[in-house]
Amino acid sequence: MDYQEYLRYRNDILEWIGGRLKKSRYQHTLGVEQTAVTLARKFGADPNLASLAALLHDNAKNLDLEQQLAICKKSFPKKYNLTMDYANILHAFAGAVEARNRYSLLPEEVFSSICYHTTGRPEMTLMDKIIYCADFIEPGRPSFEGLSEARKLVYENLDEGLLYIMTHTFRFVAGKGKKVHPLTLEALDYYHVIKIPLKKKTNKGQ
Ligand SMILES: [Fe+2]
Ligand SMILES: [Fe+2]
Repeated sequence: MDYQEYLRYRNDILEWIGGRLKKSRYQHTLGVEQTAVTLARKFGADPNLASLAALLHDNAKNLDLEQQLAICKKSFPKKYNLTMDYANILHAFAGAVEARNRYSLLPEEVFSSICYHTTGRPEMTLMDKIIYCADFIEPGRPSFEGLSEARKLVYENLDEGLLYIMTHTFRFVAGKGKKVHPLTLEALDYYHVIKIPLKKKTNKGQ
């Protein structure tokens, strides 16, 4: 995508989300964009695509929950567990559908990063990780325990930061007595397992 095309997309998206997001959500979105572009430059993703994915990531957040659920039910099979038990994650899946309907020529990595920005998933792409982490550490987030550690870790090592945020989110959701989405549990399993190095076989002392 050349710069002019990127700008056309960006302007159109800003107008679209400007009409569907509350002011605070819009400002959060701009913070996520700024962070996602920085992370993309640092870790080797396309900064323009990171910018567009970030601008689109919460596009469905201020739709009615019933509407979010209806979009999810129409577009995803049952195995995705998109029900009111997981009300907070519906906007991500519905948002991926809405973004794809409107900007169908953008690459798939944009839509997947919108889709999985709240749950995570096993084998996340670089863009998935960037949007997931940028959503959590964007500069407009009011300070809370763990935020500065998350920021530090993400900029040092994206995978370490991702696992930290995922674990933090898991504890937060489970701590409130809410159900944790199966995709998040799968993702946690996956990233914990790949993080633990295999024990090297050694003959020393034997
Ligand atoms: Fe979100
Ligand atoms: Fe967000």
